[in-house]
Amino acid sequence: MRAPHPCWPSAQPQFESVTQALWTADKIPGVDGELFKVKEKTGVNQQACLLLAELVRRVQPTHTLEVGCAYGFSSVYMVGALAQVGGVQHVSVDPFQDTAWHGIGRTTVQRAGLAELHTVVTRMSDAVLPSLYEHNARFGLIFVDGDHKFDAIIADVRNAGRILLTGGLLVLDDVWMASTRTAMSWIEANLPYERIVARFNLAVYKKTGDDTRHWTHFEPFLMARKTG
Ligand SMILES: C[S@@+](CC[C@H](N)C(=O)[O-])C[C@H]1O[C@@H](n2cnc3c(N)ncnc32)[C@H](O)[C@@H]1O
Repeated sequence: MRAPHPCWPSAQPQFESVTQALWTADKIPGVDGELFKVKEKTGVNQQACLLLAELVRRVQPTHTLEVGCAYGFSSVYMVGALAQVGGVQHVSVDPFQDTAWHGIGRTTVQRAGLAELHTVVTRMSDAVLPSLYEHNARFGLIFVDGDHKFDAIIADVRNAGRILLTGGLLVLDDVWMASTRTAMSWIEANLPYERIVARFNLAVYKKTGDDTRHWTHFEPFLMARKTG
């Protein structure tokens, strides 16, 4: 195991108090200190955040990425775990972070003392991920929790697959949604991933190799029943 990032020992107490408050406070601050009410359905649940952190500690990536930052629940847990394993950078992609979300996600990570490991990119994931690929950026764990329409998830998974290292983990949020479950069945029928676990509303896949399918390849997959 690598040594923790130099910011970690001093950031740890801040991380503990900020993350504890996420689950008790009904309002959290945005970038200018104004408090905003937390919409329960939006953020990732506590057990899922703990699982994400555990996965980062297990994989020990240098770089991690997430699509969808919002309140930064997932971000702060992923960045905290990255700091513990001596990681370098966590990238959050969210075009609405500084508008609809008032910078809450980036502020949460900053309040936890972990801003130097966090980069927020305020553009659409389907523009950012291909650009990261072209710039040879690669990640050990990618969390997809952005636009939850079926076609948007498919685009994120396809683009994420190109920048995820073999052996790395792809994690999808919101398994309760028919769009996510249909995307999962497409992945499992067609892509080089092994499902490791599905719990706490997350599905976790290990990338087993590059996508070398012939251009004619297609395996039918199951359509989930509509929910929600
Ligand atoms: C369910 S929330 C993410 C919750 C976040 N992971 C947390 O724990 O607080 C979905 C997020 O996806 C973002 N989003 C929507 N469309 C997107 C897109 N095309 N690319 C990247 N992010 C997008 C939204 O702005 C929103 O912040």
